[in-house]
Amino acid sequence: MIRLEEVTKTYRGANEAALRSVSLDIQRGEFVFLVGTSGSGKSSMLRMMLREERPDQGNVLVLGENLSRLPARRVPQFRRKLGVVFQDFRLLPNKTVYQNIAFALKVIGKPKAFIETAVPDVLRLVGLDHKSDSLPSALSGGEQQRVAIARAVVNRPDILLADEPTGNLDPASSSEIMNLLERINLAGTTIVMATHDRNIVDRMQKRVVEISNGEIVRDAETASYKEIPSGPMPVIPEPKDFEEKP
Ligand SMILES: Nc1ncnc2c1ncn2[C@@H]1O[C@H](COP(=O)(O)OP(=O)(O)OP(=O)(O)O)[C@@H](O)[C@H]1O
Ligand SMILES: [Mg+2]
Repeated sequence: MIRLEEVTKTYRGANEAALRSVSLDIQRGEFVFLVGTSGSGKSSMLRMMLREERPDQGNVLVLGENLSRLPARRVPQFRRKLGVVFQDFRLLPNKTVYQNIAFALKVIGKPKAFIETAVPDVLRLVGLDHKSDSLPSALSGGEQQRVAIARAVVNRPDILLADEPTGNLDPASSSEIMNLLERINLAGTTIVMATHDRNIVDRMQKRVVEISNGEIVRDAETASYKEIPSGPMPVIPEPKDFEEKP
């Protein structure tokens, strides 16, 4: 479904490569976390999958397309098969919840009759049918992100790419977002999510791909945010270290 083959990318003007020979294979229906410190290359990997960037070397294959060979005129059509969610929601501030989602369908030429059933359906999915006529400014951050997710999935994409979707949210709202993403995944959408959120990754126990300095350093199924060290137990300090000072 998504395959990166020895992808190397150095941004124009940068001294160091953002991605170094990154290879990765994601199957249909998977839920994958991309983790790693700031600047490690998580967003760059997502941008490759969206064909917002192209590799200097290597191949990116998504939904059967080799994105290096995809002509520019076919990129919009390709992107319609993907949903994308960002940390900062990116809703249109002057449109209502309903209009934000309907507009996304209108610009890709969906018929009115489709829009009129798909928008209420997806708003029910994210639990916001009662906020249909609200402006984004009248919603909480968690609600705004649910609208952004509704907009991303209303056209039933095969793949949902999420770049730190809980980065601006409190733990309770983050949990709601993760429950929603998990339901979307169970309905068949492949999800790749870049995150710094250790609690979420530890709780979800999905595949974790860790990237460091542009290289994949770990790829583990049902994993936690940090690798659990194997080998000898850590040295436990002698009891005297705990003695109370007089
Ligand atoms: N458009 C760009 N031009 C030049 N360098 C860039 C560009 N975008 C990213 N980089 C560099 O590429 C490297 C990887 O960046 P990337 O945004 O992929 O990291 P990230 O893991 O998403 O970080 P964060 O957790 O902060 O979002 C960084 O060194 C960054 O400075
Ligand atoms: Mg990033």
